[in-house]
Amino acid sequence: MPTYSFMLNGEQVQVDAPGDLSVLWALRDKLGVTGPKYGCGINVCKACTSHLDGKAFNPCVTNVRDVAGREVTTIEGLAKGDALHPVQEAWLEQDVAQCGFCQPGQIMAAVALLRRTPNPTDADIDAIENVCRCGSYFRIRQAIKAAAAKMAEPTVVAVQDPAAVSEGGGSSLAATGLGVDVAALGAAALGAAALVTRALDTADVAPAEG
Ligand code: FES
Ligand code: FES
Repeated sequence: MPTYSFMLNGEQVQVDAPGDLSVLWALRDKLGVTGPKYGCGINVCKACTSHLDGKAFNPCVTNVRDVAGREVTTIEGLAKGDALHPVQEAWLEQDVAQCGFCQPGQIMAAVALLRRTPNPTDADIDAIENVCRCGSYFRIRQAIKAAAAKMAEPTVVAVQDPAAVSEGGGSSLAATGLGVDVAALGAAALGAAALVTRALDTADVAPAEG
């Protein structure tokens, strides 16, 4: 029986299987990855929605030989360690799930949508074809909008004042009372200045080449 290798949720995996085995059964039966659900097996319900090379695909109608050498991500691979993806956070905050069966596929479809369309309209969201037997569509829409807002927020990185660090201190610019964004910008400028100063200092003391 042939062996197919691919990346699954960041790890290389191998599956011994006929080439026309669907990826859904390779995942569920051979690799024990059961997040992608079986609903119809014919690309209608979308309960199995996962990502192939970062885009939504339906493993129930994709042969395992067609993912060899590629990257498959299932709901199990969405969080980074303990840090949930913003879409997962929004799903919890909006209390979207009812029975839960369709939800891994819904979340993977939502993540794929937000990659393509960071600020989706109602029509963009309604174009997702994943079926929910419990009718959680309204909360899905709310959660996708909340996730879009979360993902649009600037990432604030804790930056220390390089001057304070060089003096052995550890105070943050945020402690100066400046707004956090302003503080981060100021710290970035100070950091850049410190790098230039360091480069100039190094140039001063480096022995001449040649
Ligand atoms: S199981 Fe229904 S689309 Fe894959
Ligand atoms: S939450 Fe039950 S099928 Fe969607």
